[in-house]
Amino acid sequence: MPRALTLPDFPWDSLRPYRQQAALHPDGVVDLAVGTPVDPTPALAQQALQAAANAPGYPPAAGTPELRAAIIDWWARRRGVTDLRDSEVLPTIGSKEAVALLALQLGARPGDLVLHPRAAYPTYDVGARLAGAVPVPVDTDADPATWRLPPGPDGAPARPVLVWLNSPGNPDGHVLSTEQLARVVAWARQRGAVVVSDECYAELAWAEPWASQGVPSLLDPRVTGTRADGGPDLRGLLALYSLSKQSNLAGYRAAFLAGDATLVAAVAEVRKHAGLLVPAPVQAALLAALADEEHVAAQVEVYRARRETLLEATAAAGLVNDPASVAGLYLWLRGPASMSAFDLVGAFAELGIVVAPGDFYGQAGAGRVRVSLTGSDERVRAAAARLRGTSLLRR
Ligand SMILES: Cc1ncc(COP(=O)(O)O)c(C=O)c1O
Repeated sequence: MPRALTLPDFPWDSLRPYRQQAALHPDGVVDLAVGTPVDPTPALAQQALQAAANAPGYPPAAGTPELRAAIIDWWARRRGVTDLRDSEVLPTIGSKEAVALLALQLGARPGDLVLHPRAAYPTYDVGARLAGAVPVPVDTDADPATWRLPPGPDGAPARPVLVWLNSPGNPDGHVLSTEQLARVVAWARQRGAVVVSDECYAELAWAEPWASQGVPSLLDPRVTGTRADGGPDLRGLLALYSLSKQSNLAGYRAAFLAGDATLVAAVAEVRKHAGLLVPAPVQAALLAALADEEHVAAQVEVYRARRETLLEATAAAGLVNDPASVAGLYLWLRGPASMSAFDLVGAFAELGIVVAPGDFYGQAGAGRVRVSLTGSDERVRAAAARLRGTSLLRR
């Protein structure tokens, strides 16, 4: 003891030299490397937090009954998932901890396979490792019949226990259709694996049909099938949602999950034992923010304008956004074949702009950079002006 866990290096630490270089720009740095919101937390959430500040007792791990009702109502109003039951929802302390701990909480064991998207938020991989399981990147846009899984130690097929989906995807902005979600669900149910879909960018859809129809949830009845009583058949399924992005609440750590009551109960049990409780004032703020759609609609327009500015300016600089990047908080850009992801990051740093190399998100990110829409309007305009006049990204 201590026995070191084999965790990857924390990727953003390796950006330090690029940050230092970007900071030398005479007009100041524009940091678009991390998807951390910069616009104000809505007043209604701040007020709810303050009003609930007197909180001497422990908060319920399952969330207050009022919060659970607000979560159920939100799924029905915003995601087309009706008839969720009280036992099918649970608040979490932001969704990153849930992503990191779900494999463990759901009972993944050493040697089990945890599948995740090829270009992915690094925490799916970390969560598999924390459980001693084996993270396996797969193409979640493709027919699961094409997925190649590694054999177990004795050469026998290893057991996939969990399939992570992320739609809209970070970093690639891809959206999974109801047909693709249903194919993955059928594949996983045949094998007894759980499917967990991380959907925190669902309100940020930039192209049709998603902008007007909404981004489909894993819990959509067209995906899940229905129970005898008409509700969604949630067997083996969970979906995660977070208010960090849509409501500028990343600093509050306010999120929730929903799905199969048996899985929710198993996760809630571990959370009770471990003291993973969403603080009472945050539960109150989460409830208030969930009930209001106006601030979300306004925030979506703010991101739409920033995206259009950055799309136009990066195209003028010679970069090409992934044509399937149609939703979410990022551009997923490719430069000339001669430039690696870190070459691109270096060229951006010379312009005083910090972006993330695609390699942070797996091998599928080679040659790409991820540019976050989370700069203030003023900083995004500054970045755009620098990009329009540069030949640095054409080497
Ligand atoms: C795909 C994805 N999942 C989960 C999270 C975690 O969000 P939070 O912990 O703020 O709820 C992020 C944050 O960037 C993300 O991109």
